[in-house]
Formats: sequence, structure tokens, C-alpha cells
Amino acid sequence: MFDLLLRQCRLLQSDRTIAEVDIAIKNQVIAEIAPTINANTRLELDMQGHLISPPFVESHIHLDSALTAGQHRWNQSGTLFEGIEIWRERKQNLSLEDVKRRAIATLKQQAIQGVLFVRSHADVSEASLTALQALLEVREQVKDWMTLQVVAFPQDGLYGSPQNEALMEKALEMGADCIGGIPHYELTREDGVKSVHRIFELAQKYDRLIDIHCDEIDDDQSRFLEVVAACALRTGMGARVAASHTTAFGSYNNAYATKLLGFLRRTELNFIANPLINITLQGRTDTYPKRRGVTRVKELWQQGMNVSFGHDCVQDPWYSLGTGNMLDVAFMGLHVCQMTGTAEIDACYDMVTWNGAKTLQVEDQYGIEIGKPANLIALNAQDRYDALRCRATVHYVISQGKLLARTEAPRTTWHCDRE
Ligand code: FE2
Repeated sequence: MFDLLLRQCRLLQSDRTIAEVDIAIKNQVIAEIAPTINANTRLELDMQGHLISPPFVESHIHLDSALTAGQHRWNQSGTLFEGIEIWRERKQNLSLEDVKRRAIATLKQQAIQGVLFVRSHADVSEASLTALQALLEVREQVKDWMTLQVVAFPQDGLYGSPQNEALMEKALEMGADCIGGIPHYELTREDGVKSVHRIFELAQKYDRLIDIHCDEIDDDQSRFLEVVAACALRTGMGARVAASHTTAFGSYNNAYATKLLGFLRRTELNFIANPLINITLQGRTDTYPKRRGVTRVKELWQQGMNVSFGHDCVQDPWYSLGTGNMLDVAFMGLHVCQMTGTAEIDACYDMVTWNGAKTLQVEDQYGIEIGKPANLIALNAQDRYDALRCRATVHYVISQGKLLARTEAPRTTWHCDRE
């Protein structure tokens, strides 16, 4: 007796093939995948040939600042730095309830659109560590339907204020999953380099993952990615490290970028690009031509490196237009990075699914395979290309073997008789 049987699935597989199968779930685990399954089940759902995919993975978001756009003022310049100033004002009156309410509302918004794995940064520059405490409580509260990782993120720099380094260590003791950083926003180049070294030391001491906001600036002299790469090579930690944003990589001269790519290939580093926000934040000091402000996604992918896409912001001082829809993120990435070949389009889909799972190091729980936790989504699409082109509706979200959300596609009726 199965708990849930999904009929008529078009199962999307990581090798780019699609299989027409039934999928049976028992005890929250995928129990059987076969062309036809004949067995008793408590609940049967007809997927009607919809595309069945592993859930979307949000590899980079800031839930602590989500849903605050316009509080207390709008980011009129649209720059990263005005965003940081507004957040500095807003975070003076954070409370646990305030952060938890907005974080859970955002996670629900994401989950109904098929996101079941999220990595969120939590600002740990405030002495109270309210944002971190709130997100750690949320991590526990949502664990039955969402896997949430929390990064201790020193928004104002690890050395921006005398107490920040100790706050970071306290955040790790409280249970943050990952240690973050922002070397390009430290007071000096030397502080930036020192911060990266300290982050690796702390990650080893506390056995945590690393996710650094790295070179999120148009300055072609912002070169902390090479420091991260060197630390990854020397510690052997590369697969447990993510370099987020790395937008300056898009501005480096090609001679330096080519040398750097050679180093990066040896590291197993993960890269997270956030095309929605960086296409709007970056290039603000340019006249024309304006830079795209996105890292070299296509080149990193071509070199076989793991790249994922993140939303970064959902209605906050940096980006007011986020929706939580990962297909929007991949759609923008596909355009900005000019990844319009068929394999490239497929790769952009992978950047919000399988690649994100690799970045989060949750591959043992991820994927539609017998014996794995039953997390999957049903999209109104034929394949990856169709899903991206149409930003397909996610009809069903199955989380840990249970139906979590169901959404109907919009229906239009044509009322004009004329052809
Ligand atoms: Fe970020």
C-alpha cells in the first residue's frame, strides 16, 4: 500500500532525458518509479503528462530583509550602497516576530512556486543577533516542508566594527549552517584579505560551509575571488565553499580573467550568480556602454564549474521586484549571460535545481530516485525550454511525500467571433 501515487508523469532526469512513468511514494520516500504501477494507494493524483522535476533550489536569498521594500524609504538611486544605508536604518527596529513573520511569508511564497531548498543569509552585524536568532527559529519551524540553511552574514564587514568578529563566532556557536563574508566592503583591501582567511579558519574550527559575498562591485580591481580560490586550494575545502555574486569578474580584463579561470578550475568552488538584482544594481556609475554586472556564468559553466542562480532579494531595499519565482531568475540569467543555445537553456534550468543542490551540499536528499525523500514538483511544461520560456505554472508541490500546494494555471476564454 503506497501513500501517494502519481500517474502519467513526464519525469525530467539529470541526463536531459524525459521518462513517461508513474511514481509511488511511501513513508515520505520515493518507493517505485515504473512505466505503470498497479498497487493500492491512499491517494492517487493524475499528473496529466506534466513535467515532473526535482524542486527548485534557492541558493541565495536574504530572508531577514525580505518584504521591507519602502520601509522607511525607497531606494531611489537603486545602488547597493543606498540599499545598505536603508537596511542599516531599518534593522535598528528588528524584532524576532517581525523577521519571522516576513521570512515565513516569503518561504511560503517560494514553496508554492516549487522551491523546497533555501539558503538564506542573516545579517550578524547587530549586537542582538536578532535576525540570526529569528531565522534559526524559522529553520526549525518550517523543517517539515522546507529545508532552510542559514548563513551568518557580516553585512557591515567582519572588521567594520570592533565587535563584529566576536559576533560572527557567537553566530556560529548559535548554530548557523554557513559562515559568510563581504571582503569587498571591508574598510581596506588588507581587511578584506584578512576576513577571507579568518572565514576559512572559523569554518574549519566549527565545521561549517562557507558562502562569501565576493566582489559584488563593478570595480575591476576588486580581486577577492583569487583569495577565496587560494584558501580553497590550500584547505581542500572548495566543494564546501560558495562564491556569491563575483560581479567584478565580469569587469576583469581578459588576460587576468583567463589566468583566474585556470586557478578556479582546480578548486571545486561553487558560484552563485544573482542576475535579477545584479542587472539592476550594477553599472550604476557607468554612462555608456553600461556593464551587465553579472559574473562570467557561461565561461564558468563551460569550464565545468558548478554555477547556480539565486534570487537574492524579494522586495527589500536592494531589489523591490522579487517574486520568489526561480524561473524568473533563470530567465533573466539566460538573457543577461546570453545562454540561448539548447544546452545552455537546459543549463540555466539546472542552475535553479541540481546545481543549487550541489552548492547547498544536499545532493543526498535531492533528486527523484528510489529511496530518496519524495520532494518534487509538477510543471505545466513539456521540457526545460518550455518551462523557462513560459515561466510555467507549478501545479503541484510535493514536499516530504505530502501534497504541500496546488496551483491552477490561468485560463483565458476567447470571446471575439472574428478571426
Ligand atoms: Fe546577497
